Amino acid sequence: MKPNNRLKTISEYHFQKLDIIKKNMLNDGKKIIDLSIGDPDLPVENSIINALIEGLKIKDFNKYPPYEGIQQLKKGIIKYYEQVFSVKLEFEEVLILIGSKEGINNIVPAVCDIGDYAIIPKPAYPVYETSCHLWGVNAFEIPLLEKNLYLPEVKFIPKDILPKSKLFVLNYPNNPTGAVANSEFYKEIIEFCIKNDIVLYNDGAYNEIIKEGEAPLSLLQIDKKKQCIEFGTFSKIYNMTGFRIGYAVGNSQIIKALLKVKSNVDSGQFIPIQYAAIQALKLTRNYVDNIRKIFDERRQNAEQVLTEHNIDFFKSVGTFYIWCKTPAGYTTETFCEELLNNYGIIVTPGIAFGDLGKDYFRIALTKDKQEIVQAFSNLKVY
Ligand SMILES: Cc1ncc(COP(=O)(O)O)c(C=O)c1O
Repeated sequence: MKPNNRLKTISEYHFQKLDIIKKNMLNDGKKIIDLSIGDPDLPVENSIINALIEGLKIKDFNKYPPYEGIQQLKKGIIKYYEQVFSVKLEFEEVLILIGSKEGINNIVPAVCDIGDYAIIPKPAYPVYETSCHLWGVNAFEIPLLEKNLYLPEVKFIPKDILPKSKLFVLNYPNNPTGAVANSEFYKEIIEFCIKNDIVLYNDGAYNEIIKEGEAPLSLLQIDKKKQCIEFGTFSKIYNMTGFRIGYAVGNSQIIKALLKVKSNVDSGQFIPIQYAAIQALKLTRNYVDNIRKIFDERRQNAEQVLTEHNIDFFKSVGTFYIWCKTPAGYTTETFCEELLNNYGIIVTPGIAFGDLGKDYFRIALTKDKQEIVQAFSNLKVY
């Protein structure tokens, strides 16, 4: 069988070498700390698990769920946006997804024709680019630079590409850099996209993962006319990555187009999982504060030990990632190999997020703070 040419442009996994080293080390009984994947180590709240179990007792729990999600969960999301962001949403402005990744992929054909352009940030979560490749859409990579606090500048978009651009992707708080957006920046990008008839979305997977005491910011707070959309997920803040539940909120026409794609390629998420998500939204703000506190402590401890070992990093307040510079004399690959071979630490080579990440690596703070500190304190001073 010959896969289609677009599929050939997508690499399956960049880091087989690290995987082989990891397997060999584990076979030799060596200890490894995996800080590469954004899969939180914290437990799922009992009340969420109980809601999932109770969901199995609901009549017709096993039937095809409604494509757009159950009304009660939409209601929970509407209440959440109102309470946390003072944004009022209608039912047709909410779509439940099988994880936000589903929406990030399906928004491409919902908005772009084959041969159109999508403006995607780099370095970035790789799915923005791969979904463009899959759907025959060109990805224009807009650079995120440290000197601009990892916020994109529209001046980088060439004049001939702009009229062919249909979609603009933002992701704040940002994976992999940890950067956060502010209202002025959102305002500027919204205006730019409206002026140029481009659909704008923010991937808000980490909207709630910010430093304790900082107010989370939604794109929809600034997008008063609701011309854009935002993706959200239960994966990160509620430790529900495996549940596969997320949502899209905002402009009803974009949501409708997204639903049209979704309803043709899959169905709604399993009903008991939607009940679990309803329960997650019922947790108090203390729950969120506590998660933030845990990641804050991990971030502070990790930053301190990195500084002691002369490893430079971008100081920010968003997500549970730290974006670090590879020390002089190393490439991202050679440094990540050294971390694994010599110290048993697995991190993500920056190149996984695009060429602009070639001199960086990403640490995911998805282990206990003592474990993180202990692992890095063995490092030599670079
Ligand atoms: C920036 C970003 N967006 C979206 C996702 C996907 O989240 P979900 O589990 O909701 O599909 C991730 C997961 O790592 C992510 O880092």
